[in-house]
Amino acid sequence: MSSSQRKYASMRSIGAYVPPRILSNADLEKMVDTSDEWILKRTGISERHIADDDVATSDLAVEAARDAIARAELETGDIDLVLCATVTPDYFNMPATACIISDKLGIRNVQAFDISAACSGFVYGLSIAKAFIESGMKRNVLLIGAEKFSSIVDYTDRSTCILFGDGAGAAVIAATEDSGERIIDIHASADGSYADFLMTPAPGSVNPCSQKVLEEGLQYVKMKGNETFKLAVKTLTKDVREILEHNGIQAEEIDHFIPHQANYRIIKAVGDALKMREDQIVLTVQKYGNTSAASIPMAINDIYEEGRLRYGDLMLLDTFGGGLTWASALLPFAGK
Ligand code: ACO
Repeated sequence: MSSSQRKYASMRSIGAYVPPRILSNADLEKMVDTSDEWILKRTGISERHIADDDVATSDLAVEAARDAIARAELETGDIDLVLCATVTPDYFNMPATACIISDKLGIRNVQAFDISAACSGFVYGLSIAKAFIESGMKRNVLLIGAEKFSSIVDYTDRSTCILFGDGAGAAVIAATEDSGERIIDIHASADGSYADFLMTPAPGSVNPCSQKVLEEGLQYVKMKGNETFKLAVKTLTKDVREILEHNGIQAEEIDHFIPHQANYRIIKAVGDALKMREDQIVLTVQKYGNTSAASIPMAINDIYEEGRLRYGDLMLLDTFGGGLTWASALLPFAGK
């Protein structure tokens, strides 16, 4: 292949969707022993969106995906791979939510599968899309991060129920011959020795569905919040330093630093350690809470819809989540 024919992967568009119903801190005060003041001070979250009972993760995803496909000026028939990053799939085990999304969008006869990397899922997916495109196997990848996180939250557990929200974000990752549009670099990693920091113990082969599972609430997310917090700050900061250094880029050259939206204090600590200016840091945690795999594409969509994200702007994505997994990415926005 000559260098003029070389294909790069680029982020051609972005879209997002949140369900309309809002769960505010004041609502949570009526459900568990907590206060608006505690939640705001410890997390920065004011409200989050929660999907209705009859809405599935795939329904949220489809709304976000429609926007992303239209903004890429493509038809559904142009998509040749569908990836859905989620830890709250429509069905645990099978079928993959990506298959259901494809069907709902009318995308036929293409490869479709899910990615399980919790909050790192979207950036993990970005690395998969990049590899498929740069190997020449695919041209237009629909990459979605979608979560109905409320479906695995115990709304009697004040240490977790205040944190999470529902939503979806989607991007079209497309082939380009313009090296200026390319996804510059992605670093992704995992350490399963910290698996118990953040997990849903059931259902799965360790704890198949049973009366015991329901009695002990093992189907709900469990988190060692404080330990996760400390490791998140350390790992996110190290990650960003490494990817910037590896690519000879200074922090001040970044137009938009888009960290996973888990907790304002984590974002602030990482931003301070990296000497990021306030105007570089994208913050959405106050209105959406932690939407896991959807958080980064939802944040990208927010600045796009505010008119702050322009073609060529340099983005730095940085995320951390269950697994434990973590990932960072450097890329220009290649959408219009
Ligand atoms: N309201 C009032 N008090 C509370 C609440 C609440 N909602 N939740 C906990 N507390 C209490 C605790 O019981 C504890 O009380 P005690 O001192 O009497 O025992 C006290 O507040 C402090 O608890 P900590 O857990 O130490 O509080 P912390 O400051 O660590 O904040 C939090 C908790 C917000 C969960 C924080 O640890 C955090 O954000 N952790 C990281 C989350 C994260 O990044 N997850 C990774 C991504 S998620 C994914 O992958 C899906």
